[in-house]
Amino acid sequence: MACSEPIRARTKGDWTVTRTMEDARRAALSLASVQRELYPLARACGIKGYAAMSKSALVDAIVGADPDGSVAATMEAAPAVPAGSDDAAGALAAAIRAIAAGAAPAAPAIDTEAVEEIVAERISEAEARIVARVTAPREVVVRVGEASPVRVGVQHARFDDLLRVCTARDGGGHRVTPYLVGPPGTGKSTAVASVAKALGLAYGFCGALDSPYGLVGFIDAGGRLVRTAFRERWEHGGVFLFDEIDASHPSAAVSMNAALANGHCAFPDGIVARHADTIIVCAANTAGRGGTAEFTGRVRQDAAFLDRFVFMAWPIDPALESALSRNPRWIKAVRAARDTAESRKIIGALVSPRATVKGDALLAAGLDFDTVAEMTLRNGLADAPWSDLLSAARAAWGES
Ligand SMILES: Nc1ncnc2c1ncn2[C@@H]1O[C@H](COP(=O)(O)OP(=O)(O)OP(=O)(O)O)[C@@H](O)[C@H]1O
Ligand SMILES: [Mg+2]
Repeated sequence: MACSEPIRARTKGDWTVTRTMEDARRAALSLASVQRELYPLARACGIKGYAAMSKSALVDAIVGADPDGSVAATMEAAPAVPAGSDDAAGALAAAIRAIAAGAAPAAPAIDTEAVEEIVAERISEAEARIVARVTAPREVVVRVGEASPVRVGVQHARFDDLLRVCTARDGGGHRVTPYLVGPPGTGKSTAVASVAKALGLAYGFCGALDSPYGLVGFIDAGGRLVRTAFRERWEHGGVFLFDEIDASHPSAAVSMNAALANGHCAFPDGIVARHADTIIVCAANTAGRGGTAEFTGRVRQDAAFLDRFVFMAWPIDPALESALSRNPRWIKAVRAARDTAESRKIIGALVSPRATVKGDALLAAGLDFDTVAEMTLRNGLADAPWSDLLSAARAAWGES
């Protein structure tokens, strides 16, 4: 069907105006492909909430995330041309301006295929530059006072913040307690152990607890006191990680309430004051508000307990993930599978950085790509969604 009146084609909240139905369809396809290219870029730049952003806002955010401005130069390089010109680069600039304006006035005819090619080429150049910078692994060295510097190796982008939070005190001299929330395998537990190493403190942890005794200990049948890792760190100082806290029974978690509030904790053999160098950190995949579609075994925690923390989001850090594999092709394949799982909203797909670590080991041991992918990326997915993920991963693996 042809039409001489402008027709609006909608792609995820952005509007563009085209001349014919066919143009509308092609423009929509073109925009969809821009979106496919922009989403991984946005993730690599650590832009939050990108899926809800208009493309123009997303382009601005990506350009803004580039410290040396090279993307801005690339994206703005297309010269402005008079309406009606068949210069595809000019048409692209006009299209981007039109998108940025929200609802565009009647636009010049656009050779959508040429525009699509230019967009793809420029975005892939920009992506390569940004990804190379954003994903360059960062080795952290910590110096505390006059002590010798401590090398803690490659760390998550939020490690510095975590260190600051762990050493912060309120006006009364009391420490604050961070609660790290992030998907599986993003390095939460590892980061907390590294904080202890960086500060030269002892480290202890517990996993999900089903009773307060797992935290504070108990007197056994023979009358002997059974001490816990928490007791050791509370009494003698050090970093204590209460891991997987969202899967704990609320009564076990609540047993820390008084301790966190007033610096004294009731153990079976009496009240013990908090050591000056006791740092407590919690970590979990959820913020303690109960089970979700993915994390079914979580329990809604007591509101007064949750009120005691400062929450720190702990997402996948591309730079850290790059350091987890010696095989750049594998990292690309993992990311392609992850992007596909996200963009197609495949329920039950979990492509965590652990897949990166495990796949790296298996490939280095001589297993072939398909076997490794099946072992590390599938995670019980049904045939159809797995076929989508595998094709994306294979394409990225083959492209490299
Ligand atoms: N800083 C790091 N240096 C080297 N390897 C790391 C680092 N952080 C994480 N890893 C690797 O990633 C794996 C997953 O990290 P970790 O267990 O800390 O994740 P997590 O966020 O606690 O996951 P979960 O939510 O499932 O408990 C580790 O076993 C380790 O192999
Ligand atoms: Mg963990």
